[in-house]
Amino acid sequence: MNSFGRLFRVELFGESHGPAVGALVDGCPPGLPLSAEDFEADMARRRAGAAGTTPRRESDLVSILSGVHASFSTGSPICLSIPNKDTRSADYNQFHALPRPGHADFTSMKKYSGFSDPGGSGHFSGRVTAGLVAAGVIAKKILPFARFNTEVRSGVPGKTLDELVVEAVAREDSIGAIVEVVVRGLPVGLGEPFFDACESVLAHLLFAVPAVRALEFGDGFAAAGMFGSEHNDPIIDASGKTSKNGSGGINGGISNGNDLVLRVAVKPASSIARAQRSFDFSKNAMAELIIEGRHDACIALRSAVVIEAATAIGLADLYLTDRGLYTRDVENPWRKA
Ligand SMILES: Cc1cc2nc3c(=O)[nH]c(=O)nc-3n(C[C@H](O)[C@H](O)[C@H](O)COP(=O)(O)O)c2cc1C
Repeated sequence: MNSFGRLFRVELFGESHGPAVGALVDGCPPGLPLSAEDFEADMARRRAGAAGTTPRRESDLVSILSGVHASFSTGSPICLSIPNKDTRSADYNQFHALPRPGHADFTSMKKYSGFSDPGGSGHFSGRVTAGLVAAGVIAKKILPFARFNTEVRSGVPGKTLDELVVEAVAREDSIGAIVEVVVRGLPVGLGEPFFDACESVLAHLLFAVPAVRALEFGDGFAAAGMFGSEHNDPIIDASGKTSKNGSGGINGGISNGNDLVLRVAVKPASSIARAQRSFDFSKNAMAELIIEGRHDACIALRSAVVIEAATAIGLADLYLTDRGLYTRDVENPWRKA
């Protein structure tokens, strides 16, 4: 469904070409300093403009409709609304009859009996992740001790991402990439095994992000080819610091106080300019598909901050679950003694 979280609960709403997209954030503790300007930096990181991103231009200004008074969270649900201005729905009319390979046109048409909003891919557009990024800003404020470092990398050995983006645009194609998130400064103890283990909660959130194809923590898939002596992380002091980090900062589903390290494979956008073949449901035959709309040649360039926000939301929920929504005796500056 469209909501996630045990205590820090995020609900996403909106369609790409509707009046607005956004998030309803419940379970935000009272007393968190919050104003519209706080969203600008992360919204700018998701905004298009760089080579390899969509020509669609949105200001992505976040309006706070509830849950904040005198620039502090009140403890009530926070509604964040982000208007859609630069819409061009006609580009998408053909996709109900002639679905794009790899997009949600066919599956959403079948699941919602043809009623899903096709404009700009509706609720299946990357646009809906603007609300996730906004909610992530609040999540990060719940975790002021956590330092997020997120990088986008080439998924092709020997080629830089810049080279690949240029090649993709020249080919009228798209290209995938790897997003790595490192979170420093986390306490020991985040994660509620069995089913709400730290990796499980983050995996649930990260696989909800459109276009995510794979996820690994620490050594990830490489661990399958390692000896225990290579993968094990020796503890070297009383804080639990380890001399290496093959586990990516999680043991037994619980954060171990070392850096949390995860990598996500982001697929190439399914909407590409070059001609493709698809099945035409109106003619019951294969047909040529030409996609006219405005699209990202490299989704990962814009989804890096989305992946980071999803990580922050999961960690904020686990933090509040571990410490309690109204606990006042911990290291967090927004908690009143
Ligand atoms: C920030 C962001 C931007 C995206 N931009 C595009 C795009 O321009 N064109 C496209 O075909 N898909 C784009 N996507 C991916 C689609 O939303 C996604 O592929 C589609 O919903 C199908 O879901 P799936 O790929 O997870 O199966 C974007 C995703 C994100 C997170």
